[in-house]
Amino acid sequence: MPGLSAATGGRILFGGDYNPEQWPEETWHEDVRLMKDAGVNSVTLGVFSWAKLEPHPGAREFGWLDTLMDLMRDSGIGVVLATPTSSPPPWMGRLHPDTLPVTEDGRTEWWGGRQHFSHSSATYRRYAAAITEDLAARYGGHPALTMWHINNEYCTFDHGDEAAAAFRRWLREKYGTLDALNTAWGTAFWSQGYDSWDGILPPRQPHYMKNPTQVLDFRRFTSDMLLECYVAERDIVRRHTPHIPVTTNFMPLWSGQDAWRWAEEEDVVSVDLYPDPRDPLGAQHGALVQDMTRSQARGPWMLMEQAAGPVNWRGVNHPKPRGLNRLWSLQAVARGADAVCYFQWRQSRQGAEKFHSGMVSHAGEEGRTFQEVKRLGADLARIGGHVTGSAIQAEVAVLHDWHAWWAGSQDGRPSSHVDHPDVLRAWHRALWEAHLTTDFAHPEHDLSAYRLVVVPQLYLLTDAAIDNLLAHVRGGGTLVCGFLTGIADEDDRVRPGGMDARLRELFGIRTLHEWWPLDAGETVACQSFTGSLWSEEIEAAEDAETIPYRGGELDGLPAVLRRGRAWYVSTLPEAEALRDLLAEIAAGAGVRPVLDGLPAGVEAVRRGDLLFLLNHGREPVTVEVPGSHRDLLSGSTPTDKVTLGRYGAAVLQP
Ligand code: GLA
Repeated sequence: MPGLSAATGGRILFGGDYNPEQWPEETWHEDVRLMKDAGVNSVTLGVFSWAKLEPHPGAREFGWLDTLMDLMRDSGIGVVLATPTSSPPPWMGRLHPDTLPVTEDGRTEWWGGRQHFSHSSATYRRYAAAITEDLAARYGGHPALTMWHINNEYCTFDHGDEAAAAFRRWLREKYGTLDALNTAWGTAFWSQGYDSWDGILPPRQPHYMKNPTQVLDFRRFTSDMLLECYVAERDIVRRHTPHIPVTTNFMPLWSGQDAWRWAEEEDVVSVDLYPDPRDPLGAQHGALVQDMTRSQARGPWMLMEQAAGPVNWRGVNHPKPRGLNRLWSLQAVARGADAVCYFQWRQSRQGAEKFHSGMVSHAGEEGRTFQEVKRLGADLARIGGHVTGSAIQAEVAVLHDWHAWWAGSQDGRPSSHVDHPDVLRAWHRALWEAHLTTDFAHPEHDLSAYRLVVVPQLYLLTDAAIDNLLAHVRGGGTLVCGFLTGIADEDDRVRPGGMDARLRELFGIRTLHEWWPLDAGETVACQSFTGSLWSEEIEAAEDAETIPYRGGELDGLPAVLRRGRAWYVSTLPEAEALRDLLAEIAAGAGVRPVLDGLPAGVEAVRRGDLLFLLNHGREPVTVEVPGSHRDLLSGSTPTDKVTLGRYGAAVLQP
């Protein structure tokens, strides 16, 4: 299958969503002039163009898109052509209410916004296939076409009747018999036993807490149904253009899709990333999403969307201070992106996103936003030929799994304060601050490339995943697990002893007596640090090494356990302590940081033979880098040290 390199041709793709249907034709020519000025080489057309392309059922209005495709061809700008299927035209909901999704409490999601389609609706799928077929037939041979972009940020849930029928089909295929389903769902509890497939519903709003395995299966079903929609459109475009790569854009750390599964179906993995410019951990969040996307892609990936300035969907929407757009874009390249794109090219004057920034803001060509975009375009052109296609070597893997997230995030838990993404962020941050380059992996993936495997929290682990973790340690690898790991099997059935016995044995946990979740703001003292969120009453095996809790009910009991190369952490250590603990464990496993002695706030990443240095601080810093280098950004040739200005960056070639 063609990959991202088929579209980049050795350059970093630079551009964004282009919605020219919002503008008169004169503006299109102005757009092209500015795009060329900024070094834009890629635009995504058609994401929300369904009503324009098919104003009435079955009609086709391609003339405007013909003009734009030709304009892009003549300007040397590649087109990522989107299927418009994430926002059906109003006529579809009006004529076919069965295409509209229904929430768990029975509310219809009407047209007038976007993404109002039911993944299970045969009518929706028929219309989506037809417009996709016609787009592919018409533009498959167009020289401007570089990539297909299917739909946009798949994210809908549906609890309606057609989805209910599809859910039953999905369950029949999974379980075969009602007995098997009743056993897996534990329906002996609360008189939930099913005597007929027809009685099974999506988890619609009940009087009191829902059946957790029903909810878990519904999450799996929803991800699968959306994937079916994607695959159906992908197969259509592939039939017309087997040489053109296909993608769909993920939302970062979004709970609705099992992105490991989805990534297998994509030629190019792409993501939309919008850290809050005011968030002191914005760069860390970016690094996490970038590491995860690279790992899903197993190589270079596409930053499909970011914002050149403010978004408009937070309570308060802050612009990016001078230099930050460039810095965060270079961070993405450092962590494997071969495409740096935006939502959107030109800021809208109407519609729900008129206060969302664009590469060309309302201030126009003279505005700071566009001027900084231009500078970035020149930077990316300078480094593109050196960086595209090159790999990042990581000796540490963080394990993540959507099924564990879904199962571990339901009602009726010991603590609703434990938030799966927050725990993941805390652990990735510790590795990031220790300058340890980190991949993500699925718990059943081959882990043999990694010296250190880190499991922040995997509440649900399949038997195969547990075997995989044990094999990793047996094979000489080091493993660190956080609390609430290995609690449930794949049906969300609690494992005997409250945590998988083989894992308990591995870590030297003789008995897990009780969990002691902590209130918001509450902390627990340990010998060398403070923990929050969670603590555990554990009786350790005799040969386990431990760091004990100090004071309180758990005084003297182990907070951290270690047996050989396997570590278990039963609380959430404060940020510095977790960083130091992981740095120490990594050193013991033979894993070195990218550079030693980096000043605070400086991130270092090696990609291929290049060293990226990124200063996330507002003050200039000097970084010691032994040897002579060429900085591909500035053209300078520093020896032994490099000075980075506020939000400054260097890309050093030996
Ligand atoms: C998402 C969507 C875009 C736009 C941006 C705004 O990423 O894909 O269409 O709505 O959000 O941030």
